[in-house]
Amino acid sequence: QPSNLQMEGNSSLRRADCRAKGGAPGFKVAILGAAGGIGQPLSMLMKMNPLVSVLHLYDVVNSPGVTADVSHMDTGAVVRGFLGQPQLENALTGMDLVIIPAGVPRKPGMTRDDLFNINAGIVRTLCEGISKCCPNAIVNLISNPVNSTVPIAAEVFKKAGGTYDPKRLLGVTMLDVVRANTFCEVLGLDPREVDVPVVGGKASLLIDFAEETEYLTNRIQNGGTEVVEAKAGAGSATLSMAYAAVKFADACLRGLRGDAGVVECAFVASQVTELPFFASKVRIGRNGAEEVYQLGPLNEYERAGMEKAKKELAASIQKGVSFIRK
Ligand code: NAD
Ligand code: LMR
Repeated sequence: QPSNLQMEGNSSLRRADCRAKGGAPGFKVAILGAAGGIGQPLSMLMKMNPLVSVLHLYDVVNSPGVTADVSHMDTGAVVRGFLGQPQLENALTGMDLVIIPAGVPRKPGMTRDDLFNINAGIVRTLCEGISKCCPNAIVNLISNPVNSTVPIAAEVFKKAGGTYDPKRLLGVTMLDVVRANTFCEVLGLDPREVDVPVVGGKASLLIDFAEETEYLTNRIQNGGTEVVEAKAGAGSATLSMAYAAVKFADACLRGLRGDAGVVECAFVASQVTELPFFASKVRIGRNGAEEVYQLGPLNEYERAGMEKAKKELAASIQKGVSFIRK
């Protein structure tokens, strides 16, 4: 019933306006790629987040269905759907946080870099929209290869003139942290009680785990491939990724609200190494990644892992930068 839907939309709008006027926390969040394998559960979980007052769901296909579905959940956030490039600007205008899981996923036998040719262009278009419509938004970039798409986004924002704030662009590496916490079961640890920082880049990491170091490092580095192979052609991690993305987005919203001591790992502009981007612990505040923490002292195993990770990262970063500068 279109008329009922319209009424529901209007009353929802009034709810959002009242909340904003009342001063209660409530942020406007857009998900780009909302109808995808990650996008759908991510949309559902963000609709459940009490810090979200407005949720914009954008995709090039199927966003009306996902929007209608999610909008029936009896939580506070007002949900609006946007379909296709002509609606991108409306989807983005006024947003505080933009989460990007748009793009193709891996199939067995593929590397993340094999996704570059398609996903680089998608990320460029979406970031051009962000620089035009919500240049102050915090951006959570999920689309792979993250080690290249984050530099692409940075270059797009620089090119747009004055819209690049390195603190506001965060590559989401949270799934690596979530996996590391989970796989620590082999050490007899409860995943709910550990918080393993994963540093380097997306899936090129080094960690100190005492005796199980080798097993855990390999398992975490290959966690994505483990899922890709188990899904046998049907895509890559979606549910655990949506969980991780919401955990990370929630940290960003708490930071935006002004909470103290919000610290998570992310792939950000960095001076931790000589590379322009690196994943490490960051403190998230009202302006995004306000502080990027140095690594602690490294043992020999970690130093070797670091050198290997840096070579791989340097190439991925350069590839992203060249894609825009060429
Ligand atoms: P999917 O194919 O299920 O969904 C992708 C969605 O993006 C689709 O709905 C598609 O229509 C949409 N899309 C395509 N082009 C678009 C455009 N120009 N604008 C807006 N939306 C567009 O894929 P998925 O499984 O959800 O994975 C999405 C991306 O996330 C992949 O690149 C994947 O590799 C990546 N990923 C990253 C991590 C991470 O840790 N950072 C983890 C898992 C997956
Ligand atoms: C993951 O780590 O699950 C993602 O990066 C998706 C992939 O292709 O592995």
